[in-house]
Amino acid sequence: MKTRSLGVHGMEASVVAFGAWAIGGWKWGGSDATASVDAVKAALDAGVNIIDTAPVYGFGLSEKLVAKAIEGRKREDILIATKCGLRWDIETPTLHFKSDSEAIYRTLTEESIRWELQQSLERLGTDYIDLYQTHWPDPNTDMEAVASTLQALKNEGLIRAWGLCNESPQRLIAAATIGELATDQERYSLLDREQDQANLPVCADHDLGFLCYSPIAQGLLTGKMDAKRQFNEGDLRLGNPRFSASAREAIQAVLAPVKALARDRELSAEQLVLAWTLKQRGVTHVLAGARTAEQAVSNAVAGTVDLDDEEFSVIQQAADAWPGFVKFTED
Ligand SMILES: NC(=O)c1ccc[n+]([C@@H]2O[C@H](COP(=O)([O-])OP(=O)(O)OC[C@H]3O[C@@H](n4cnc5c(N)ncnc54)[C@H](OP(=O)(O)O)[C@@H]3O)[C@@H](O)[C@H]2O)c1
Repeated sequence: MKTRSLGVHGMEASVVAFGAWAIGGWKWGGSDATASVDAVKAALDAGVNIIDTAPVYGFGLSEKLVAKAIEGRKREDILIATKCGLRWDIETPTLHFKSDSEAIYRTLTEESIRWELQQSLERLGTDYIDLYQTHWPDPNTDMEAVASTLQALKNEGLIRAWGLCNESPQRLIAAATIGELATDQERYSLLDREQDQANLPVCADHDLGFLCYSPIAQGLLTGKMDAKRQFNEGDLRLGNPRFSASAREAIQAVLAPVKALARDRELSAEQLVLAWTLKQRGVTHVLAGARTAEQAVSNAVAGTVDLDDEEFSVIQQAADAWPGFVKFTED
């Protein structure tokens, strides 16, 4: 497994991280606790040393399952990344998400960040977090205050490094001038490349780690998600235009040369796609979500793959051939 630094202020982390959103079940049509713990353990056994979770992933469940999975292992061998800023237990002026059964609010006040950190430490069964990240910006708390709080937590030894998610290039630069910003985390995959012209150049130029979330486009890039795949009730992919039968068919067509290359190399399409993603300028790590041990091990293999120029160009051409999701609507 290859490793890279989590920014200049960071630590050495496996280039493939375990993304622990889906194991929380929320937005993924539920999850199986045993399979989830096995998935995290399998990732660690396969050389992954960083796990990305968040309080809101299953309203505490993902963090608790991560704690269970790392029980009995050396804490210093594992990097835990978690987040703050999304609360479901209080109301704030900024509603982040609302459905019939739940409402999630944004806040990054110092009081809230400190309270959330204590909750995460308890659920994770640890006394420090390796990488603490804001989950979404809070329009009511300015960057100076947020960065100062996170820097104070680092200085106090409660976190080892801090990062941001879902941010603009300007705010990244601002945060980096206030404190020791280590990483940015954004959606990025072969199908979602808006960051090529936004945060990626900033991260490359400022030596920040760039953690790609949804790097397999939530399953679309596995090369197996054809029009027949059904989603459970409560799965964010159900009824989502990005997952319409027409979008899935178009993606399968774009992936055809990648699948052919995968057969030649005795790898899977998603392993090649992840390896391609890791070669993009500015990208340092991919956060690959997995719900089973088999998926976790398969994703970890991507962190060992080298692509030669010709192989890279086949995947690059597939990426460039993708017209984007705009033309797809719900079936
Ligand atoms: N900061 C943020 O705002 C933010 C937002 C989103 C995600 N994230 C982070 O990024 C991580 C990854 O993103 P994500 O979970 O949205 O999407 P992802 O990693 O692109 O896709 C994960 C899903 O793809 C399928 N999959 C994964 N590996 C597979 C394999 N080898 N073979 C077949 N199917 C496979 C699984 O779903 P099925 O088996 O059900 O198909 C899995 O749940 C999250 O877990 C979280 O840590 C952060």
